[in-house]
Amino acid sequence: MRHERQVELLRRLQGVDAPRPGPLGAASMHNPARMYTAPEVFAAEERALFGRMPLLAGLSGELAAPGSFLTTLAGRVPVVVVRQPDGTVKAFVNACRHRGATLLTAAAGDGLGKITCPYHAWTYGLDGCLRAFPGAEAGFDDVDKATHGLHELPVAEGYGMIFVRADTGGGAFSADEALHGAHAELADFGLERYAHIESRSHEWAMNWKLVMDTFTEPYHIPWLHKDSIAPYYLFDRWIFDAYGPHARFIGTRKSVFDELAKPDTDDWDLLPHATIQYLLVPNAILVHQIDHVELWRLVPVSVDRTIAVTSVFAPEAPATEKAQRYFVKNLDVLLGVTNAEDFPAQERVQRNLASRALPEVVYGKMEPALSHYHTAIHKLLADAGELV
Ligand code: FES
Ligand SMILES: [Fe+2]
Repeated sequence: MRHERQVELLRRLQGVDAPRPGPLGAASMHNPARMYTAPEVFAAEERALFGRMPLLAGLSGELAAPGSFLTTLAGRVPVVVVRQPDGTVKAFVNACRHRGATLLTAAAGDGLGKITCPYHAWTYGLDGCLRAFPGAEAGFDDVDKATHGLHELPVAEGYGMIFVRADTGGGAFSADEALHGAHAELADFGLERYAHIESRSHEWAMNWKLVMDTFTEPYHIPWLHKDSIAPYYLFDRWIFDAYGPHARFIGTRKSVFDELAKPDTDDWDLLPHATIQYLLVPNAILVHQIDHVELWRLVPVSVDRTIAVTSVFAPEAPATEKAQRYFVKNLDVLLGVTNAEDFPAQERVQRNLASRALPEVVYGKMEPALSHYHTAIHKLLADAGELV
């Protein structure tokens, strides 16, 4: 993030006398509990959000070399993204054109020279073209290889991010379009240079949006995190900006006031004191955390089950084992807090909402990113003609 941008953002926090909590949103929002619990809402989200929107599949550093790949789900559509020999990426439906077997079952890998189906070994090039029916050419000599390549999906790579869309209608899209104006600031982070350290998955008994909600307000920190991170973080000051449906939400450490006390703004730095979160609708959160990047990708399983994939990236490949351990430790600490404190609480929220005892939840003026996120979800569903 450019220095002048950091100063501009810090100025918004300037002055401990500024009203706190703040800056407040325009109004509180009430959201029906069924947005988290109703199977028909979930089905509408699968169609309108996961089925139609560009989704952040991963960072470029996860596909560092030709033949590296990652797999994911775009709603119900199984997806594989593959780095090509020419350095571009392609995305395909991760299912064999013969009888539908999953082609690549690992979450990620590298060194692929071709894609071979584990069921009957139909073999595809990295470009998705069907190359051979090993041992059975005569048995399929009336099946045209040219029309039985993998189904290709629209994909866009830019600013170190890879977006995939399950919907093949509407043609190509760009990373700029997927980012709705957040690209200019994200470009400054140089994400294309970041190295993937590790990813971990965990399935939770809660609606996928509750994972997003976890990160959209610092209000809970003094209470839910009283035994862990509360001493270090502000809960009543934040920096929030919207980029179309997306948002950037910055939580700060209490140490930020030491920075603001420096008389010369040339000496001001936001990054050492900030958790800078890009909330990418529908299901990804990219976090710049002082000296590394964390990425959350959510895979909805059902209305009340979600796989959260958490990854950590370093600004460059660690040169030593000690440096590698440092970044892995950051992932340990992050998941130590979320998996012991945030998500168990959210699982209880899910059970309470599913009991139908509460008709709605409230997002206060001091939770502006939360209101923005859910307003965006409602608008996207309405724009897609989904009546929820
Ligand atoms: S299903 Fe893939 S080769 Fe038969
Ligand atoms: Fe939290």
